[in-house]
This record gives sequence, structure tokens and C-alpha cells, in this order.
Amino acid sequence: MDAQPAAPEPAAVHLSVRDHIAFIAVDHPPVNALSTAVRRGLMDAIAQADADADVHAVLVHGRGKAFIAGADIREFGLPPQAPSLPDVCLRIEACGKPVVAAIHGPALGGGLEVALSAHYRVAGPSAKLGLPEVLLGLLPGAGGTQRAPRLIGAEAALDLMLSGRHVGAPEALRLGLIDRVATSDDVLTEGEAFVRHVLAEQMPVRRTGALSDALADRAAAQAAIDAARAEASKKRGLFSPLKIAEAVQAALDLPLAQGLAVERALFEQCLASPQRAGLVHAFFAEREVAKVPEARQAQPRRIASAGVVGGGTMGAGIAVSLLDAGLPVVMVERDDAAVALGRSRVEKVYDGHVAKGRLTPEGKAAVMARLHGATDYAAFQEVDLVIEAVFEDMAVKHAVFAELDRHCKPGAVLATNTSYLDIDAIAQATSRPQDVIGLHFFSPAHIMKLLEIVVPAQVSADVVATAFALATRLKKVPVRAGVCDGFIGNRILAVYRTAADHLMEDGASPYEIDTMVRAFGFPMGPYEMSDLAGGDIGWATRKRRAATRDPKARYVHIADQLCERGWFGQKTGRGWYLYEAGSRNGQPDPEVEAIVAEARAQAGVTPRHFTVDEMQRRYVAAMVNEGAKVVEEGIALRPLDVDVTLVHGYGFPRWRGGPMKHADIVGLGQILADIRAFAQEDPLFWQPSTLLVKLVAEGRTFDSLNQI
Ligand code: 3HC
Repeated sequence: MDAQPAAPEPAAVHLSVRDHIAFIAVDHPPVNALSTAVRRGLMDAIAQADADADVHAVLVHGRGKAFIAGADIREFGLPPQAPSLPDVCLRIEACGKPVVAAIHGPALGGGLEVALSAHYRVAGPSAKLGLPEVLLGLLPGAGGTQRAPRLIGAEAALDLMLSGRHVGAPEALRLGLIDRVATSDDVLTEGEAFVRHVLAEQMPVRRTGALSDALADRAAAQAAIDAARAEASKKRGLFSPLKIAEAVQAALDLPLAQGLAVERALFEQCLASPQRAGLVHAFFAEREVAKVPEARQAQPRRIASAGVVGGGTMGAGIAVSLLDAGLPVVMVERDDAAVALGRSRVEKVYDGHVAKGRLTPEGKAAVMARLHGATDYAAFQEVDLVIEAVFEDMAVKHAVFAELDRHCKPGAVLATNTSYLDIDAIAQATSRPQDVIGLHFFSPAHIMKLLEIVVPAQVSADVVATAFALATRLKKVPVRAGVCDGFIGNRILAVYRTAADHLMEDGASPYEIDTMVRAFGFPMGPYEMSDLAGGDIGWATRKRRAATRDPKARYVHIADQLCERGWFGQKTGRGWYLYEAGSRNGQPDPEVEAIVAEARAQAGVTPRHFTVDEMQRRYVAAMVNEGAKVVEEGIALRPLDVDVTLVHGYGFPRWRGGPMKHADIVGLGQILADIRAFAQEDPLFWQPSTLLVKLVAEGRTFDSLNQI
């Protein structure tokens, strides 16, 4: 049979002319990103419209759900293709006839830069305008750093560029970013009406690059740039914020053409930085995590109401999460006093919102009216989903799930928030293991973004799909995990925390280790973290694991010795650090250092000095090696699932992409060589992952397993 001719690529940009208006429609699903085809299409369409004597004005708009969501992020790092986006923007701006951008949905990054190169802008109710390049390690690279300050002033432009936040049409109008708020998202009608107004009023071709009023107060603009520089240098290790301030300095000091050249050079620097690679990886990984086999195979069950077992810190946080998603929630506790306490924990969160002006007292009352307390599991009879958040003990969990089995309606999803227990075993306490799943929230549950969705052997696909759909409603980042002790996150944490403990016993102080971890980009180090969470939590885990620990494995007793003294961290006024009454800022404790010194002596260790680099290599290698084991065992679907878990649940710096992406950037050969070198001292702890060894042998990266 003859080969079928390939279907022609659908046009990404359409041009039509009606009543002297040229309509340029960007049509490149899903979000009209500025791929090569779109840039070419825009360039050709604007040139044609400009040359057509019948055309008096031009309207640019987007089809589908967006105006333009920005540069095509998938093209970063590929050889550049003409025309460049800055050239497209210059061509639009140079058009001899008024150009209006009619905006609905996202007009972000390069999308807003296209709109800024138009002469007027109108935006509808769904419009989201912003310059979020900083979140990808970049700066606006198609004139945004030069045109935005000329249009809305340096301070407002810097705020948009450094925060990456999106603004709606009313705020955009206040800022001067747009000229009119449209009453509907029918951009064709609204845009055409505005173009007719421009023509009727003979409004001039107004080129943003030629404006100067917003920067007329040079002293104010300079002050804003200086403040931005100071703020940017405080951001842990981020590269592009300072470059953004530099580019705006050029907007203040130089004519447009030279300013654009400075912007281009700075953009190229950002593009080449590993932070850009890390952040773009994080962007796609955060979307990819939701693409799990079960979500493709099955439809989610309907969830219109929820229940929570337990009103402790975790249960109350989960209840807030569910209430925030608009669900009615039933909270079951063992007695009335415990119900009241759980309720008051929930109420405290909303009181905080009221105090900060984020919620009215009536709004709070309306939310609290959706929370129902009960002491009997029969209260769960009608709910579609129950999440258990009680004490971490298998016997207790069994008792709870037996009750749930007795009282919940058929088809209700039964979830446990356990952070490490065997969910297959928990499911056995019910007659319906197909409905039992793990939903592992992170504390505080209503704030932390990560939700590990733990998939036991017998759960049905639609329950998994339901969990992923629920995560979207709760605005969480879901990661699919298999059942093992600690799932993805806590299992890896246990290993790198052990590596830190080894470092401590070998000579580094806990304070040096925390400083090293912060220097890497985590918000806090492992010992500060332990003081914040409460040292007793890790102590309980270590005691539980004692029976199964390999007697030949190295064990550092220092943390236990602190706990034996009742030093659990912030809540007891001392842990690894000393806390003055009411303070969260701990001071190094000489007594802890003495305990560490004593432990070294007892273990027969001669303390040695580690450089920051040596410490970081051990900490990261431990994390990456366990991450690889988690992937190799199928506990995580792909390396990117490990990345998202560590970034959103454990403070791994997002700009490094996650531990597996970081390992790819460093080079897997280097990581493996480090592990083998450390194994000379402790072969039991530093056993290289089979997957890592295989990838190095084949010259491959973790990313090659991601299929993004
Ligand atoms: N390039 C390529 N693909 C993009 C994209 C972009 N700029 N923006 C979104 N997508 C893709 C997503 O990966 C996703 O693909 P998938 O369906 O295969 O997973 C699809 O579009 C839909 O995206 P979301 O799932 O995120 O859909 P939402 O409706 O939740 O959100 C959005 C839409 C608000 C546009 C969000 O996708 C977003 O924030 N995108 C990034 C916007 C951005 O950062 N723009 C600046 C780019 S850098 C730039 O412009 C440089 C310039 O200055 C030179």
C-alpha cells in the first residue's frame, strides 16, 4: 500500500480582514505557547496587515482557553529558530496602524510581552496577566523588562517580574497595564468594539517602547531598583532576580534598542544557567506527576462529602483542607472533649484568616457550619470519603478501619494518613480492601502542597483516580507512591538523615551540618527541622525500627541521648538548639556539643574536618542513592516523582529541580564515584543502587526514564 501523505500542520495563526480590521488569531492548543510556528505566523500576519491598504487597525487575540501562555517552554535549550520572539514583538510595535491586544485567560511571559508590544490592550474577566519567567529561572526576554517599566513604572514592573504573580483585569487597569476591562471573555466582540473606538477617536499608534512618563521620576525608579536588588540578594541562591533588576536598570538608563540588547544578553545568561534547567524540570514534573496509569484507566468516584477520624494537629489540618475545597466534613473523635478540641483547632486557622483580613467573620461562620463533630462512627454513614488521622499504631489503625467497614456506605473511599505503616495490612482489617488507600498529608496539612497517594496492592483503579481528582480539588501536588516503610519521602529522609548523623559523629557539628544544608538551598537543616517537628517523633520511629535494624549497621546514639533527657526541640525549650522562652530562634548549645564529643569518644572516632563541599556530597549522594532504589523498586513511578516529593514535602530547593534532576546536572558518574568512595569506610550504608550503576554504565540520565 502507498504511504499516506502526511496531513499538513494546522495553521497556528489565522488572519482575516473584516470592515477594515485585521483579526489575528493565535490558535495553538492547549495554551497558545509561542512555538516557532506561532512566531512565524504572527510575523507574517502582522506584515500582511500592515501592508494591506484596506486594513485600518489590527486586533490580536487567542483562540481556546488562553491569549498566549508564554514562550514555548519545551523549546528552551533547543537550537534557536527564526524569527525570535523579540523580533516578533518589535515588528508588532512597529506596525503603522493601531494594534490592539484582546486578552482572555493567561497572557503570561512572552504572551504579555506580545500584548505590551501592541499599542492598546483590553482584557476580560478571565484574564491572568503576568511575567512569571522568574519562576523558570529566567527574565522576560522579549522586551518585557524594557516595556513594562516604561508603561507602568519600575516599581510595579519589578513587583510583577520578581514575584511572578498573575493579575486580573481590574488590577491590570489600575496598574496601567491595560486600557480597558471588558465585560465578557468574548474577546472578538469586545476587542472589535475597542478597535472601533480607537479608530473613531483617531487614537494614535502608541508604542510602549517610546513611552517615558512612567519613568519620569528617576529617583523613585532608582529607589525601586535598589530595593529590588537588595531583596533579590536575600533570595537563597537564586540567579535571575538580580538579573531582572539589572535589566530594569538598563530600561532606566538606556534607549530602547540598547536596553533590549542588555535584556537579551542577561536572558541568555539565565537560559544557560543550571537553575533554568532545574526550574523548567520542576514545572513539567509538577504536571507530569498526576499522569498515572489508574487516572487513565478509570473514572474518579464522586466526592461530595468527607469525614476525618481524629481531631489532632493532622486531623484538624486535613479537615481545613477539605473545608477549603468546599466540602462538608464530619470529624469523629473519641469523646465530646476531643471533638471540641478538634473543632477549636480548625477554628483557630480560620480565626487567623479573619485577623489577617482574608476572611469575614460571616465567611468563617459559613465554613465552620460545614464542620460537624461526632463521637460515633455512625456519623460517617453518608460520607463519600473518610480520612483516618489517628495515632500511628497498627492495632489502633485496625480498630478504626474495622469500624469504618462497619459503618461506611458501599463505595465510600477509606483512606489512611499513615506516614509509614503497611497499608496492605491496614486494608485487611476491612472486607473491602479495594476501597482502601493511603493519603499521606504533610504537616501543616492545610498548607503543605505535597500529598503522597499510597497505592496498596488490592485498591481499585477508580479509587486511585479519585485520590488524584481530590488532590486537584485540594490544590495539592499529588505523587503516586507504593507501599514500603516511609513510602517515597520519609524513606529517603531516613537515609539522608542517617548520613548527616554519621557526618556528625565523624566530626561535623550539628550546627555546621544545618548551615551546610541551608547553603545548599533548603529552608532549614535536619537538626533545626527535628527541633521544629519534635525530636520525639523520630525517636519513636527509631525505637520501632530497632528490632529490624541490621545489627551490623552503624548506629549513632546522639539523637536518642538528647531525647532521653527530654530535649525534644522547640516545644521543650531545648533540643539540638537552646530556645529562649517564646523564641523560635535556637542558639547552639555547648552541652549538646559535649554530648556529641562524648559519643565520638565512646564510638572510638577521631573527629575530622569536613569541608562544606564534602558534607554536601555525602548528604546529596545518600538522597540520590535511596531515590534511585525507590524508583528501581517501583515505589516511585519515575525519578520525577521523587523530585516532586522532595521539593514539595522536604524543602529541597526547587531551583535545583529535585535530587534526581540535580544528580543528572552534576553527572551520575560523579555521584556513583562518590558513593563508591564513601563505601570504602562503610560498605553496608553506601551500597550503590543497581539502577544508578546501570544508568552510568549505559551513559544515561535519570531524566531518560521520565518520558516528559
Ligand atoms: N510552553 C509549553 N507548554 C506549556 C506552557 C508553555 N509556556 N504553558 C503550559 N504548557 C502546557 C503544560 O505543560 C500542559 O501540558 P500537558 O497537558 O501536556 O501536561 C498544558 O500546557 C496545560 O497546562 P496546565 O496543565 O498548567 O493548565 P492550567 O490551565 O492549569 O494552567 C497556565 C495554564 C496558567 C498557562 C500554566 O500552564 C502556566 O502557568 N504556564 C506557564 C506560563 C509561563 O511560565 N509563561 C512564561 C514562559 S517563559 C517566557 O515566556 C519567556 C519569554 O519572556 C521570552
